[in-house]
Amino acid sequence: MENLFSTYKIKNLELKNRVVMPPMCQYSVEKKDGIANEWHYQHYVSRAVGGTGLIIVEMTDVEPDGRITDYDLGLWSDEQVPALTRIVDAVHSHGAKVAIQIAHAGRKAEDAAEPVAPSAIPFDENSKTPRALTTDEVKGMVEKFRLAVRRAVKAGFDAIEIHGAHGYLIHQFHSPLTNKRDDEYGQDLTKFGREVIEAAKAEMPADMPLIMRISAKEYVEGGYGIEESIEFAKAYKDAGADVFDISSGGEGQIAAWGRPGTHAAYQVPLARQIKEALQVPVMAVGRLDDPTLANAVIGNEEADLVQVGRGMLRNPYWTLEAAKQLRKETDVPKQYEAGF
Ligand SMILES: Cc1cc2nc3c(=O)[nH]c(=O)nc-3n(C[C@H](O)[C@H](O)[C@H](O)COP(=O)(O)O)c2cc1C
Repeated sequence: MENLFSTYKIKNLELKNRVVMPPMCQYSVEKKDGIANEWHYQHYVSRAVGGTGLIIVEMTDVEPDGRITDYDLGLWSDEQVPALTRIVDAVHSHGAKVAIQIAHAGRKAEDAAEPVAPSAIPFDENSKTPRALTTDEVKGMVEKFRLAVRRAVKAGFDAIEIHGAHGYLIHQFHSPLTNKRDDEYGQDLTKFGREVIEAAKAEMPADMPLIMRISAKEYVEGGYGIEESIEFAKAYKDAGADVFDISSGGEGQIAAWGRPGTHAAYQVPLARQIKEALQVPVMAVGRLDDPTLANAVIGNEEADLVQVGRGMLRNPYWTLEAAKQLRKETDVPKQYEAGF
């Protein structure tokens, strides 16, 4: 019977446990150059010291106007690679593996003078109206994702996550609410996401897994639900996604009728449904910071990996404490043994 501290292997990614730190924007690039700094180094390396199996570096954008804010990480330039390599090497030295989330914010790029999107539909009444990308620009955007993934591989990451959730650019393409295009990228809502996955895979070693984060459900009126997301996830699986990271929402103003739960494990049923329908490994996320609950999600085979976000903002040693509470064996840094 698997548990939170069972090892996990997919392709050549071998994890010492099932605990994942999900991507969490730090909005801390003070120089606005997209380059990771001391904050990012401390933030990620401390979670590796804390026993996390896999750390996913926050949303890292493929072009300057793909950032939510100018304080986000980027991978549009080779100059952004060395600071990430330094983080990767340090994380590895503490026994954890590390992935990076590659993204574009699309119409949710708050600091862009003119955000871009599939269609010229603003996020809400306070947002700028985005400019619809031309067909050639969409193809160019796929290439920007390709180059960012190339740089991430060069930086030494163990896996790549593509951000197809939370109302950012890829999500904007596969949602009928935000994609009103009449070209090939509107007739086929998953074409852009599929091309991004294919381009990423072409840059990745064959044995490196690609993780696809999706919002499995939208919370606005007229948005898609789990049946539709199972269908588009199938298209992404066929394009090369190896693991699905199941989140939800983020597409627009939340309508009262569709508000997401704030209770523990609120997105686990979505992860389980994608896992069952597609027979793919999935990562669950959302209010899973009670170790007993996180352990049950693995034991009940609802997900293959469990992510703890805000729980790890509170406590970088979440994993070590979980092992103690669940009475599982895990390596504790010798300097900290007295604490456990
Ligand atoms: C400060 C913060 C920043 C976040 N940034 C990202 C991000 O860069 N990419 C992403 O996909 N999700 C992001 N999220 C969502 C988390 O990855 C996670 O899905 C969410 O916090 C729910 O998990 P939790 O209940 O364990 O915190 C962020 C969440 C927080 C709290």
